[in-house]
Amino acid sequence: MTPSALPGQPHIHYKDSHLHIEDCDLEAMAAQHGTPLFVYSKAAMLAALAAYQRGFAGRDAQICYAMKANSSLAVLQVFARAGCGFDIVSGGELERVLAAGGVPSRIIFSGVGKTRHEMQHALQVGIGCFNVESEAEIEVLNDVALKLGKTAPISIRVNPNVDPKTHPYISTGLKGNKFGIAHERTLATYQHAATLAGLRIVGIDCHIGSQITQEAPYLDAMDRMLDLVTAIEAAGISIHHIDFGGGLGIDYQGDTPPPADTLWAKLLAKLDARGFGQRKLMIEPGRSLVGNAGVCVTEVLFMKPGEQKNFCIVDAAMNDLPRPALYQAYHAIVPLAQSKQGDADSALCDVVGPVCESGDWIGHDRSLNVRAGDHLAVLSAGAYCMSMSSNYNSRPRAAELLVDGSNAHLIRSRDTMADQMRGERLL
Ligand code: LLP
Repeated sequence: MTPSALPGQPHIHYKDSHLHIEDCDLEAMAAQHGTPLFVYSKAAMLAALAAYQRGFAGRDAQICYAMKANSSLAVLQVFARAGCGFDIVSGGELERVLAAGGVPSRIIFSGVGKTRHEMQHALQVGIGCFNVESEAEIEVLNDVALKLGKTAPISIRVNPNVDPKTHPYISTGLKGNKFGIAHERTLATYQHAATLAGLRIVGIDCHIGSQITQEAPYLDAMDRMLDLVTAIEAAGISIHHIDFGGGLGIDYQGDTPPPADTLWAKLLAKLDARGFGQRKLMIEPGRSLVGNAGVCVTEVLFMKPGEQKNFCIVDAAMNDLPRPALYQAYHAIVPLAQSKQGDADSALCDVVGPVCESGDWIGHDRSLNVRAGDHLAVLSAGAYCMSMSSNYNSRPRAAELLVDGSNAHLIRSRDTMADQMRGERLL
């Protein structure tokens, strides 16, 4: 049978009716490593990155992977080797990037609540830029830098007050969000920062939200940012780079975000038209680099027919896949054996995990023809799944594999109970 790829996920396909990632059979991997099991395609990650690289061909641009999307070391290593910088939001993320071979000068440090200790460490290793988010943070960073005898490179995160038209929990560029400095306060904040000896102004940044599927919010944000750059430079402060954040969405359920290169062709046309074409650019994509590069394989434990609902109880849960519980997010769920799909016997069921909460669901009203012991793949699980997983209900964190052609590398082993209890003490 000819391989048939899943929509929007060319590296994940059915071959001889069995779901494969690149050249590896997911059923075989589940048999060897157990479930729940995250499996990622290296080629899919590099293809997603290539779309951005194409978009920026011939430009002075730095792609900083927003590692909160998936911070597993081998994933970071793939992006570090491909020349990416990183967008980090904690001292822990800094340690991970360094352990994975990331180049400090290509790291930018975002986040509204950096501690003094985190600032010190980032300054000591020589990161590329602090994306500061408040006037108070500017004072503290200046103080930390002066005490270390260093100058902190900074960019100010602007809140452009643009509606990204996404879920309220992942929209960040509107007034009323905790992020960034209000558009109207930006110039005064730059003027003040320019007087502080511990700081060196290098850029300006924004990030308006996540899972954005339209171009218009980006174009609006860009206009507002460029207006600000003009005003700041007119005040005698030069802005070396402009960072437009991340946020580009992926196809979870027939979503149609613009491809990265198409989006950037439009944005770069605007930059050129406004005379900023030569400016160094930074972006911070997360989800769009890894989201559709991964699946979570889970085993059906029990089928539980009911009067109002049928339940398909699987061994993955909200601790492994928290997005449905947190954002009512949709993840497609498909059987590993294609013959099970779309059969006349398919029944509508809720796919749920073993965790003791009604919020522990992975999919509602899915048409599946499966039995206990069958395996399912939860799709689009490369971003914000493993990185947001927990040990809730004392469940072990899942294992992870990274597929490269016909090789499947174990990049994280499943938690043992010793892993889970490490650091705890009885009275
Ligand atoms: N830069 C900054 C400053 C961010 O806060 C974020 C994401 C990104 C870049 C990357 O955004 P992306 O390209 O991945 O959309 N857990 C949520 C998403 C939270 C996003 C937080 N910030 C989810 O599962 O949908």
